[in-house]
Amino acid sequence: MGRKKLGWSRREFLLGGGMALAGACLSIEQTNQRRTGVIGRPLLKLDELARFVDALPVPRVLPASGTRPEPGNAGRKIPYYRLEMRQFEAKIHRDVKPTRLWGYGGASPGPTIEARSGEPVLVEWVNDLPGTHLLPIDHSIHGAGKDIPDVRTVAHLHGAKAPPDSDGYPEAWYAPGKSATYYYPNGQEAAMLWYHDHALGITRLNIYAGLLGVYFVRDSIEEGLGLPRGKYEMPLVMCDRFIDAQGQLFYPISPVPDEPWVPEVFGDATLVNGKLFPFLEVEACKYRLRLLNGSNARQFYLSFSNGQELHQIATDLGFLPAPVALKKLELAPAERADLIVDFAGHAGENVELRNGLLPVMQFRVAKTPPRGTGVLPKTLRAVPKTRESESVATRLLTLGEKDDMAGNPMTMLLDNKHWSMPISEKPRLNSVEIWNFANFTDDTHPIHLHLVRFQILDRRVFEPEAYYKQGKILYTGEAVPPEANEAGWKDTVQAHPGMVTRIITRFEGFTGRYVWHCHILEHEDNEMMRPYEVISPDAKEEPVAAAEVICGPLNSRRGSRRW
Ligand code: C2O
Ligand code: CU
Ligand code: CU
Repeated sequence: MGRKKLGWSRREFLLGGGMALAGACLSIEQTNQRRTGVIGRPLLKLDELARFVDALPVPRVLPASGTRPEPGNAGRKIPYYRLEMRQFEAKIHRDVKPTRLWGYGGASPGPTIEARSGEPVLVEWVNDLPGTHLLPIDHSIHGAGKDIPDVRTVAHLHGAKAPPDSDGYPEAWYAPGKSATYYYPNGQEAAMLWYHDHALGITRLNIYAGLLGVYFVRDSIEEGLGLPRGKYEMPLVMCDRFIDAQGQLFYPISPVPDEPWVPEVFGDATLVNGKLFPFLEVEACKYRLRLLNGSNARQFYLSFSNGQELHQIATDLGFLPAPVALKKLELAPAERADLIVDFAGHAGENVELRNGLLPVMQFRVAKTPPRGTGVLPKTLRAVPKTRESESVATRLLTLGEKDDMAGNPMTMLLDNKHWSMPISEKPRLNSVEIWNFANFTDDTHPIHLHLVRFQILDRRVFEPEAYYKQGKILYTGEAVPPEANEAGWKDTVQAHPGMVTRIITRFEGFTGRYVWHCHILEHEDNEMMRPYEVISPDAKEEPVAAAEVICGPLNSRRGSRRW
């Protein structure tokens, strides 16, 4: 993918290129000086750090704190969990000083919640954070003004089919000392979900500070597959960060005073379950690795140092029809991949998991005979195709970016609309719609819809100029079906530059207000997020014309813009 504008990536900081803004061209050191707390603090020298000296931590499984009556059904008692968000210090590496972090249950990633399909639970999300934020807030961003508490949180369970008042609406945040109890019915198939913060205007900072964790939904079909389990199943939560020489989180800021927002952050340190360069001792047998890309903006390109194959068995929200053999795996922010990796035939070897050429973690394969008995089934679970003929509306939604005069991204927009504009997407409960994401930018945007699971129809190259001139999509290439390993249930899709990415979904579960957004957290925080509302089947609302493109010419705004 061509990325003409990388934003404030570290490389650009170091090269000092592409950063001219109001005549200023700052290096990372100079930028640091604008931040109290990071003044004169260079970054941790990763090249000099010993690799593979810390064992991979496995997040603990959270026990229920008791039971509570089910909302709306007081006769039934359901498990009740409590997770406190706290500030704490953790060792991310043997030779790095303790790092101040925020986390659920005093850990990052937080404890894992094990839920069962069809068995509802309650989770109380308690904000016990201090009153001062760890990271630089941009008060000029919508919803992040100086008139509200700097520290505020609202938890979202990503991938959950949850009622709207338990979904973590970005404006439903609350300050330290408060909590919210959310109801998760778990009426969905086995999958790896994840919980994370979603407070309007500061989600990128709250998650970067450590507010994320894993939530598994289990079911009997999964259990019948004979997959590796117990210690042969492992969540791998991967997040990139900048760590300064004092071992503290560093979040880059722009050179513009009072507007520290940067368009994307690509840290050079990859944490796996909260450790830098961890190792895991494994037996020479099959493992089930459940990967989550919890990064703010980074896409991972993963492979093994010995070139060994892996099999993907599930996408974001459920099993694939059959395992897909891969040598490389691409994972965008918020995407999950469920993998079977077989270390048989590699006894005694050290195998590295790499992102591109860079080591992320190491697997030490034992010489002793393995005891794991997990299998890789030939088939997994049917994924019935949602038929295009079922769709009652096709929406064309642009992914756009507004730049300042110097070509620096200022904000990203969905459908050329800001967060606070009236709701324009109002699908009816149980109806099927096709959403077409036309990407006018140079970035891949991982687009996520709350509440629903969807399927990718295809991606197709189009000509942006024809759209500017006539307001019409002119395709210049063939429609490309999704890769085999994305042809399952998804909640986040990579919308590539210069392409229209088409998804199809049924709006099942609940009526009410949800959001859809880009999961590059810097984009999401700065307007690349929109509310949408599932309305009741008989609500009076103009239906969207079926299979018609409904988007007029874009209104022009001041400054240059790239759509
Ligand atoms: Cu990962 Cu709006 O969510
Ligand atoms: Cu979500
Ligand atoms: Cu984006």
